[in-house]
Amino acid sequence: MEKKSVILGVTGGIAAYKAAELVRLLVKAGVETKVAMTQNATKFISPLTFEALSGNKVVSDMWDAGNAAMDHVHWGQEADLVIVAPATADFIAKMAHGLGDDFLSTMVLAASARILLCPAMNSRMLLNPMTQANLGTLRKHGYIVMEPGDGGLACGTDGPGRLPEPEDIMEEVRKLLSPQDLAGLRFLVTAGPTIEPLDPVRYMTNRSSGRMGYAIARGARMRGGDVILVSGPTQLVPPRGVVFESVNTAEEMRRVVLDRCGSVDVIIKAAAVLDYRPKEKAPQKMKRKGDRQTLELIENPDILAELGRDRVSGRRILVGFAAETEDLLANAKGKLQRKNLDMIVANDVSRHDAGFEVDTNSVKILYRDGRMEELGLMPKESVAAGLLDRIKEMWEKGT
Ligand code: C5P
Repeated sequence: MEKKSVILGVTGGIAAYKAAELVRLLVKAGVETKVAMTQNATKFISPLTFEALSGNKVVSDMWDAGNAAMDHVHWGQEADLVIVAPATADFIAKMAHGLGDDFLSTMVLAASARILLCPAMNSRMLLNPMTQANLGTLRKHGYIVMEPGDGGLACGTDGPGRLPEPEDIMEEVRKLLSPQDLAGLRFLVTAGPTIEPLDPVRYMTNRSSGRMGYAIARGARMRGGDVILVSGPTQLVPPRGVVFESVNTAEEMRRVVLDRCGSVDVIIKAAAVLDYRPKEKAPQKMKRKGDRQTLELIENPDILAELGRDRVSGRRILVGFAAETEDLLANAKGKLQRKNLDMIVANDVSRHDAGFEVDTNSVKILYRDGRMEELGLMPKESVAAGLLDRIKEMWEKGT
């Protein structure tokens, strides 16, 4: 992501302490971050904390001689995004009525950047019709309001009003700072391994972690795409904002993919589907029997080949993955043709730094017209971004 800049406004609620973590995450993501606080916020957390984390001077007093004359106007016009977290009921009310009586409120009023509000307060304050009406007004005027979480509150009660976790706010921020160049495109992504049971306690599977497919689903969502993620069992948390379908076996994956694929424009099959499954699932745990056991396997449906075979006229991009340990290009090319794909992403899973279970990947992309491109070793997020760029280009060209 090119260097972005964000203003974080902190208002006077107990959740102000979580804003410190948000600043850390912003800075870690390479976002230039400046903090403005209300006077009440400084009672909960010291400006020094934010200065140390952001590396920038914090403004909490409109009349501080250290402020440049027009900071309250320039900050919100030069930034890519203004976040107010936590946003108290009082601050929300002020903004809904256009009041500007301190640095933060005047800065928000003068801002041309988009504004993300993260309300945090006691449930009754949040559900109070005045607060709800104020939030409605702000939404109507283009403010983005993040739903508060539900759970334990500092006042000792349980209910809606918690500031979303900093990582969740950060995910929303990443989306708001990303170009929405995939808006309107509908994706179906598969990820992870499948598992094929042998008996009630044992199964066959493979080493796929799901990271590549999840990175693609998340990347597409960040850039405005509508995403359905069909995933075999993984340790990963589904990305925010995707429709998530969890499956176990290849048969289940096939059913869900066929059910869901009708309305999608792009199908990316990053899942490592087991090609075979045990012919029978034993009803009881299999017992030790002599020194040899033979397991009979039968072929699983090849979901991607089925999609390729049944391609209807009309536009749809079909992308496969080929994880290989030998003859990478020849095998990938064979699959591209046999499965009737637009693009196949080939990775050599015998490398220790690419493919299964690691955070990096190095892939070769083969196209239907015989072209081949190589993406060097990079984080899976960057591989995902590179693939999405190419898919977008293909879609725009109408291939
Ligand atoms: O297993 P194989 O190397 O043939 O997988 C290539 C591509 O086909 C991958 O995109 C994978 O998700 C897909 N596939 C599938 N159903 C299978 C096997 C593979 O959709 N049974």
